Amino acid sequence: MEGSAMQEAKVKSPEDRKVLDRLLEERWLSGLWNVQAEERPLDPKTTVKPHIWKWKDVYDGLLLAREAIGIKSGTVERRNIRLVNPGLQDRKLTTHTMLFGFQLIQPGEVAPAHRHTMTAIRFVLKGKGAYTNVEGKKMIMEAGDLILTPQWTWHEHANGSAKDEAILFSMHDTPVLQAFGLYREEGQGDSHIGL
Ligand SMILES: [Fe+2]
Repeated sequence: MEGSAMQEAKVKSPEDRKVLDRLLEERWLSGLWNVQAEERPLDPKTTVKPHIWKWKDVYDGLLLAREAIGIKSGTVERRNIRLVNPGLQDRKLTTHTMLFGFQLIQPGEVAPAHRHTMTAIRFVLKGKGAYTNVEGKKMIMEAGDLILTPQWTWHEHANGSAKDEAILFSMHDTPVLQAFGLYREEGQGDSHIGL
């Protein structure tokens, strides 16, 4: 019986390592002896950089988005501006484990229902008469309140005020879910969650 290319290969000495490496590479294998020293750091390395996001920039952006970005199911579900770490520009994340953003809801608006595998922590900066509806549980949002939205629960945000805008600071564990291949998001079209 004919031997395989690997069986017939002449790999007898350290000088033949390139032959061995090529044979392995062709079979989607790799010797751990090729790991470089820089791939085995002695201390944890991160690309995340210290950064300060100025509230004025965020708020000015939200005011501009107020006119330009309409909340409508199927197009934009949330008028949210996220904080992008200069070290994670390609992924547009705030840190390697968290995604932060600010959301503005105009008087009379209802941000459509959706659910996702990320958990959300919401800190209310402004709001009078606004509420978030989490699976039928109405939670009034007033400045200083903290609201948690567990993973995979339907939720929508509404602003029942006639004149006051609502602003939320939202924190999501999106990058963690992405790392585990568990990130999912689902919308509910134009229908709303009952109260
Ligand atoms: Fe959400």
